Amino acid sequence: MKSIIVCSCFFFLALSSPGQQLAMTNIYGRHITSLNGKWKSIIDPFDAGSGDWRAYYKDRKATTKNDFYEYSFDDGATLNVPGDFNSQRPELTYFESSVWYKKTFTYKKKPGKRLFIHFGAVNYRATIYINGNKLGEHEGGFTAFQFELSDWVKEGTNSIIVKVNSARLKNGIPGLGFDWFNYGGITRDVNLVETNETYIEDYSIQLLKNNPGTVSGYVKLNGSKGAQKIIISIPSGNVSTSFVTNENGEGVFQFPSGGLDRWSSEHPITYPVRIYCETDSIKESIGFRTIEVKGTDILLNGKKMFLRGVNIHEELPQRKSRAYSEADARQLLGWAKELGCNFVRLVHYPHNEHMIRLAEKMGILVWEELPLYQGIEFADTSLPLKMERMMQEMIRRDRNRCNIIIWSLSNETWPSKERNESLAGLIHKTRLTDSTRLIASAFANVRASNDSIYIEDKLNALLDVIAINEYYGWYAHWPKAPGQLTWVSTFNKPLIMTEFGGEALYNNPDGKNNRASSWSEIYQEQLYKDQFKMLTSIPFLRGTCPWILADFRSPVRNQPKYQQGWNRKGLISDKGDKKKAWFVVKRYYNKVRLSND
Ligand code: GCU
Repeated sequence: MKSIIVCSCFFFLALSSPGQQLAMTNIYGRHITSLNGKWKSIIDPFDAGSGDWRAYYKDRKATTKNDFYEYSFDDGATLNVPGDFNSQRPELTYFESSVWYKKTFTYKKKPGKRLFIHFGAVNYRATIYINGNKLGEHEGGFTAFQFELSDWVKEGTNSIIVKVNSARLKNGIPGLGFDWFNYGGITRDVNLVETNETYIEDYSIQLLKNNPGTVSGYVKLNGSKGAQKIIISIPSGNVSTSFVTNENGEGVFQFPSGGLDRWSSEHPITYPVRIYCETDSIKESIGFRTIEVKGTDILLNGKKMFLRGVNIHEELPQRKSRAYSEADARQLLGWAKELGCNFVRLVHYPHNEHMIRLAEKMGILVWEELPLYQGIEFADTSLPLKMERMMQEMIRRDRNRCNIIIWSLSNETWPSKERNESLAGLIHKTRLTDSTRLIASAFANVRASNDSIYIEDKLNALLDVIAINEYYGWYAHWPKAPGQLTWVSTFNKPLIMTEFGGEALYNNPDGKNNRASSWSEIYQEQLYKDQFKMLTSIPFLRGTCPWILADFRSPVRNQPKYQQGWNRKGLISDKGDKKKAWFVVKRYYNKVRLSND
């Protein structure tokens, strides 16, 4: 039995999140009942069903000779859950309003049990009802949420109704404009979770920052029986430790990391872990590693490393729809692995949990990002709470995934008083929530002058790594020959070039023209050769992420001959074919290493 040092619980003050309770962590390690499958649906372009009069959520049926209702779940078409609705019915392709979903389930009530419904994600706003009673709403298309059903569920058949509204909002996260397809719907798994009156809501187990000889973490119970004995067991690591939570169900712990192997890309070992309290238990698999920055180096387990990355959107190009399953993740991450990657930048929003967990098993490090994308309305007073909530939801779900090394808080926002203050505040709150990982934001505002390119965004002073998106050779002309450019940073931090690239239509007959306007593969191939000529000359470069793994759908890409609604910057086509540029990147990744990488 390892010795335990139980610290004070000031720790939890930082974890309190605004508003409704955060979803329980590790849904797949619990006793769950899946509600995946066919849900009945009603398309509601005018959002007419929300009011008291039509009230679709009441699901009323005609009972007399004279009454009637101008809606019905029972006579309409169904939609598959999980999955975006846009790709399921032609009339929904570009739909951006309300779709109502209905699913029934039978339940046997038991004394002392609680029942929750857990959504992996719903894009963009969800309103949840059970048996005609409104449970609440959730905003945000890429993070998990839950509602408790205990007081509303009845013996026998119950009806869950969900209104999904996928309209883009000026004060949304993301806002009105973005360069990806706005897939709406119940896009990820839906599960029922039955617990005892007090259950394990959240926990963290990982190596203590700056002290890898110690495993540190916390457990948070939810329910009236707060003070309970907790056992954390790692059988194959020969660790079993116990402690007691306080009246609020909170406890922190530490124990020697002993012989636990370190997780790495080459050795992605995770340990089966069981977390027990007196009234609940959860299965988990945990990898142990350290991640830190020292000067311009990124160190994993104390070793300098170079992040051979690629950007990935959550989309299966051949299916033209949101990716949501482990099989989808296997295809996308399999391509990344084949490219020679040890790192993926999951853009521009948290991806589904299967993607993160499979990447962890495959030894792929992850950059996870909030959709604070380009034109965010930082001046809107509702934004700070929404930003903080979304960050808490992202970290709550994935903080035990050791392969996540970077929380990214934004992409290509532009300096302003509101943006600087908002992001500085969010950086601070993110550090309070998780002080162990690196924090980043991808910027595009560099300044080229003569043969130098200056990195000057002041927010870099608050971040752990510098992340730059640059499109020399595509959106921007080369200020000088690629090999003659000097990148200048006064931040003494590692640089990850988080985006670079250009478009090409695979096997395009006009491609022989070697012109950007012909969407030529030869042009894209040369662009990457030029890019690597520049990148390999940057002394503080510690990672590269070509934009992007595969062509992806975007409503702002409307060149009718070459784009047809697709952003063609993929190294792979929408049918899965490897373009010429793929092989340039693969050759670079075959040889780029750091001294002891
Ligand atoms: C931007 C942005 C991407 C976008 C890409 C492009 O840098 O971050 O979301 O898709 O450039 O224009 O293709």
